[in-house]
Amino acid sequence: MARVTPDQIRQMKTHAERIPMLTAYDYATAKILDTAGLPMLLVGDSMGMVMLGYDSTLPVTLDDIIRHTQAVVRGSSHALVVADLPFGAFQVSPEETMRHAVRVMKEAQPQAVKLEGGTRSAPAIRALTAAGIPVMGHVGMTPQSVNVFGGFKVQGKTESAARALLADVAALEEAGVFAVVLELVPAELARLVTERTSIPTIGIGAGPGCDGEVQVLHDILGLFPDFTPRHTKRYAELGTAIHEAASSYMREVRERAFPTAEQSSKLDPAVLEALRKKGQ
Ligand code: KIV
Repeated sequence: MARVTPDQIRQMKTHAERIPMLTAYDYATAKILDTAGLPMLLVGDSMGMVMLGYDSTLPVTLDDIIRHTQAVVRGSSHALVVADLPFGAFQVSPEETMRHAVRVMKEAQPQAVKLEGGTRSAPAIRALTAAGIPVMGHVGMTPQSVNVFGGFKVQGKTESAARALLADVAALEEAGVFAVVLELVPAELARLVTERTSIPTIGIGAGPGCDGEVQVLHDILGLFPDFTPRHTKRYAELGTAIHEAASSYMREVRERAFPTAEQSSKLDPAVLEALRKKGQ
């Protein structure tokens, strides 16, 4: 089956077809999610928190994104894979953004990149889309600006902040993004943005009025022990399942219940006999 294209994602909005998206960071889970039929996978810089144990996404490097995107691309054949540009990769200039995005596209071969920011990121995004690199935008609570926001807080609550967000999305549309993530914005504002823009909106903590939804895989599977964001929902308790499996494993190893003959191979009795002979 061919990969989903940015144009097909745009058509899903036109046909009022909802767009589910999840993060993926490695080969094995990408393969499971791709087989399940997710149309888009995001190799998000959230890997910094849920995979690497940092307390923000800021330390994630371009090399981290490239390595994990390569694994997700190898593990999928249908989903459109989006690679996040990490903090520092697109803030300096459109030229440097282009260099970094080209490196990601060449070395990891995702189908698109994502970068945070609205009006301020539009010139760099325009350069990328003009060069044939599909781009997903990301506005609202942009985690790379957590130090400006003073925490992971809902954005766009005042009239001026909401107008700024609408202007950001218009600038991104103008710059040619094929979709935009709306993170932690009031549901009514997300719905208004969704009605006013022709590009698909992908919400996270933005209510049910967006065209699609993205979640961090570890949050929906109960795999991230440090905290559970209010905007997520647990679809499985894999953290508990892993804990129980590890406890059973430890007990069986200690009690010599594992491994058994079933998991072992046999030595030819003649060879064993020869080895046991005195003096050998
Ligand atoms: O890095 C990430 O996982 C993201 C999503 C939260 C949209 O940017």
